[in-house]
Amino acid sequence: MSQVMKANSTNRKDGLAKVTGTATYAAEHQIPNLLHGYLITASIAKGRIKSIDTQTAEKSKGVIAVFTHKNAPKISKPSNNFINSKIYEARLPLADDKIHYAGQIIGLVVADTFERAREAANLVKIAYIAETPIAEAKKATFKKAASVFGEDMEYKKGDFEKGSFTDVMAGAAAKVEATYKTSTELHAPLEPHAIIAQWQNNNSLTVYEPTQWIGGSQRTYSELFALAPEQVRIISPFVGGGFGCKAFPWPHGILCAAAARKLQKPVKVVLSRRQMTANSGHRSETEQTLRLAAQADGSLQGIEHTAKSLTSEVDVFTEPCTGMTTVMYAAPNLRTYQELGVMNVGTPTFMRAPGENPGLFALESAMDELAWELGIDPIELRLKNETKEHQRKGLPFSAKHFRECLQIGAEKFGWQNRSKKPRSFTRDGKLIGWGVAAATFPGLRSSGTVKVRLLNNGTAHVLTSGNDMGTGAYTVVASTAAEVLGLPVEKVKVELGDSLFPNGGLAGGSQMTASLIPAVMVACEEVLKTAQAENAEAAFNSLRQSQRVAFEATGSSAPGAEGKQWAFQSWGAHFCEVSVDEEIGRLQVTRWVSVMDIGRVMNAKTAASQVRGGVIMGIGHALMEECKFDPNLGNPVVYDLATYHFPSHADIPRIDVAFVGEPDLNFNPAGARGVGEIGITGVSAALCNAVYHATGKRLRELPITPDKLI
Ligand code: MOS
Repeated sequence: MSQVMKANSTNRKDGLAKVTGTATYAAEHQIPNLLHGYLITASIAKGRIKSIDTQTAEKSKGVIAVFTHKNAPKISKPSNNFINSKIYEARLPLADDKIHYAGQIIGLVVADTFERAREAANLVKIAYIAETPIAEAKKATFKKAASVFGEDMEYKKGDFEKGSFTDVMAGAAAKVEATYKTSTELHAPLEPHAIIAQWQNNNSLTVYEPTQWIGGSQRTYSELFALAPEQVRIISPFVGGGFGCKAFPWPHGILCAAAARKLQKPVKVVLSRRQMTANSGHRSETEQTLRLAAQADGSLQGIEHTAKSLTSEVDVFTEPCTGMTTVMYAAPNLRTYQELGVMNVGTPTFMRAPGENPGLFALESAMDELAWELGIDPIELRLKNETKEHQRKGLPFSAKHFRECLQIGAEKFGWQNRSKKPRSFTRDGKLIGWGVAAATFPGLRSSGTVKVRLLNNGTAHVLTSGNDMGTGAYTVVASTAAEVLGLPVEKVKVELGDSLFPNGGLAGGSQMTASLIPAVMVACEEVLKTAQAENAEAAFNSLRQSQRVAFEATGSSAPGAEGKQWAFQSWGAHFCEVSVDEEIGRLQVTRWVSVMDIGRVMNAKTAASQVRGGVIMGIGHALMEECKFDPNLGNPVVYDLATYHFPSHADIPRIDVAFVGEPDLNFNPAGARGVGEIGITGVSAALCNAVYHATGKRLRELPITPDKLI
């Protein structure tokens, strides 16, 4: 058994700036002569704008312009192919008079102050020709999913088939056949969506906007306004949470930049929480059916996982629920299949562990059901069936310490003391239950480029467009540079999130660390070579002697052919305890242990924080988070951070996080696979499994609100 991994634990480089309020977020940039935009949004969910009267609004005090589909500013259609550019919603803002969902942007008022813009937006008179929207999944028509952005772009349809499913179920010693449902969830980042767009003439655009992908954002805005990428500068030094909803431009950002060009004045647009609820993404609700067939010893003979999710009328996004099923467990007969329905709601998108999170809720709940059915310990059942190879790719895993995750977790949690019957554990008059579930997420990586400067004041500067969405990138970039250069970390200054810096890649798919850290290592080695020095101190000495100001070098790192030989995957296990008071339906999570194998841990503190954040978000997904749409009107019935329930401190116990495994050096020279998303995967299943142990009730529909426990 491998040891629990020790790692560097540098404090957050950006911690002081964040807690003292000096970290500048997009909407806080001070730009002279700034105008303020306020969005006009549709109050029907389907139909057409019959008339839109902007006269009163235009005459309102301080108003500079009112944009609607009748005078839409010019926007070019981007290639939107994910490689050259990507926008969240394929329909461009103000494209025509059609309404596809409630809250859709139908206009923008620009004024000298925010309040005047908002006031004028309320004076715009709109008449609609309304049609009946489809705002409930049960009314949607489902078709085979056209495209799924899963772990690899080849796995587009979410479908896999091996062996045959006929007869397997009939001949099984034990089987599970169950349907699981998850609710529509909102990203709800603390920092709202916001943008300031500033043009210098018609050919140079600066965008202050939180983004997880500086390079992609730069290319996308350049295509939207028919510019070269170098003519667009994206500035995003801090992102106040993204979770997948800040990777590409949304309609409000595109419209703001178009209005700013038309007016040749800088314009700011900040979405209200209500607007964010309707038109800046969500995770679709899902309905998944699992069929498992096993022999008496627990060996799986068949796994079938089918999933349904929903998209909008204006883009296609399938929640790729089935992607991890064949990566987790082996069986001679396997089938996965996805369907997609269309509703009159805003476009869903990537949200922390898209697919993996709801997918593992279903799979890991079903595995628990099967364990009870067979009378086998759920840990043993998982270990018996873990797959040695990535069954879709037909490749071995470069590193896999799933077993250690379960074993070390069980030890830390005290799993051997578990009672073997539901409703058999009580404390202070409440039912107690223990649950376990697996976690997993693919190891992804793209290319990264980093510039390093050694300055004659004895400091090193590291610059890259790669950014920190709160994950700890500033910190791991600094500590890696400090290590390679032989400098104390205090002497390393890191600047991130500006497209003027070399392209650092995407903070998505948990790949920023894996993409960037190898590039930091190369760039630091390069700058020492340039200085002909063993370490930074020697380089500083030669700078002083030569009276030069700085040594500078750029380094890049990119994936090679290793992906043809190996499959890269992170692993984990969650153990939890719940207490349930059935009289009032109160559930409390009282203990949590997570053990993760993510390759090398770059920073023990920030990595553990990532896992804790994932677990907390997973507890929200399991117990509280739900965005329903009014079945008649189509608008989201939650509209801010008070009506959309998610966990607060009182809901969360201490979360004990440990890391196992070893550096995954087949993957990249740092051996790090990254950690952003894996923490949320399996959390809701572990919780439901604990609820079953406590109460004997198998809850297959999230969130587990109190009414379901009484
Ligand atoms: Mo993540 S959903 O890849 O930002």
